[in-house]
Amino acid sequence: MAKIFSGVQPTSIPTLGNYLGAMRNFVTLQDGNECIYCIVDEHAITVPQDPEEIQQNIHRLAALYLAIGIDPKRSILFIQSEVPCHAQLGWIMQCTSYMGELERMTQFKDKSSGKKAIPAGLLTYPPLMAADILLYNTELVPVGADQKQHLELTRDLAERFNNKYGQVFTIPEPYIPPVGARIMSLAEPTKKMSKSDKNRKATIFTLDSEKDIIKKIKGATTDDEASVRYDRENKPGISNLLDIFSLCSGRSVEELEAAYQGKGYGEFKTDVAEAVVGALKPIQERYQNLIESDELDQVLDEGAERAYAIAGKTLKKAEKALGIGRSNR
Ligand code: AMP
Ligand code: TRP
Repeated sequence: MAKIFSGVQPTSIPTLGNYLGAMRNFVTLQDGNECIYCIVDEHAITVPQDPEEIQQNIHRLAALYLAIGIDPKRSILFIQSEVPCHAQLGWIMQCTSYMGELERMTQFKDKSSGKKAIPAGLLTYPPLMAADILLYNTELVPVGADQKQHLELTRDLAERFNNKYGQVFTIPEPYIPPVGARIMSLAEPTKKMSKSDKNRKATIFTLDSEKDIIKKIKGATTDDEASVRYDRENKPGISNLLDIFSLCSGRSVEELEAAYQGKGYGEFKTDVAEAVVGALKPIQERYQNLIESDELDQVLDEGAERAYAIAGKTLKKAEKALGIGRSNR
């Protein structure tokens, strides 16, 4: 039985990459573990957000969490900004971090490059993420490959704090799946599939219609070798589709390679699209029922309360170790 924590930002609808790389594992990890899942709205505001849009995206993400199979009876689901301990321990983690290590984070470099005015929150994003994780004595953090560096920093910060002030934090491990940890853009398969890609053909969103999914997969960039074979380096487009197909159908990549030997990309893409539609359809149906129900507010209220009961204790322990506030309270 392990303690699990992960979060997703309420920026747009989650993508197929979010689902296959991370959220799908949130569901399977519920068996036999203590899971806490978060809607990290404070991370989302490290870049400007439209207030109405983020409000809507928070609601949608909550419904989607339940629609994919997060069970609020077994797992805690809550919104980051509704548990103030995150911002509070986030500050302590900022004071534990060095500018140099934060400036070296590749996500910071990517998101700040070319910007004249860089929001300070983009730099201090990883200490807040460390706080999210450390508040819950987390042992395992299911994420996609792009978060590996942030996880390493979280471990460094926790160890640095513990060495200086005593044993307060559990050191977490990343849980990065062997297949699907980096689902690539359909338009440029050497780039990660991203929520914010300007090219609408690059990204499948989990709530896309059947028609759009088929259109996007049919239009996916491949190569002119005309052979369905896994080769990330020379055939990134086909390899990405093989990963997606495998995860959505439960068939191994080898099995799929064998099944499509001698067949054209047209037939292959039709079947990939069918598998993706088949995987997303039941989620979309449950989502439609949830988004209109009052169940969401109840789940989130209860989730915030249960999260606070754990997070408050860790925060107190950290403050006490630092000697801030009155330690007899
Ligand atoms: P975000 O939308 O940035 O909050 O990401 C939520 C989760 O999805 C994180 O664990 C990411 O690592 C994961 N993720 C995002 N994009 C991808 C992708 N293209 N492939 C696999 N995992 C991803
Ligand atoms: N940084 C993560 C992402 O962009 C989101 C996140 C915030 C997170 N806090 C977290 C993920 C804690 C895992 C654990 O994907």
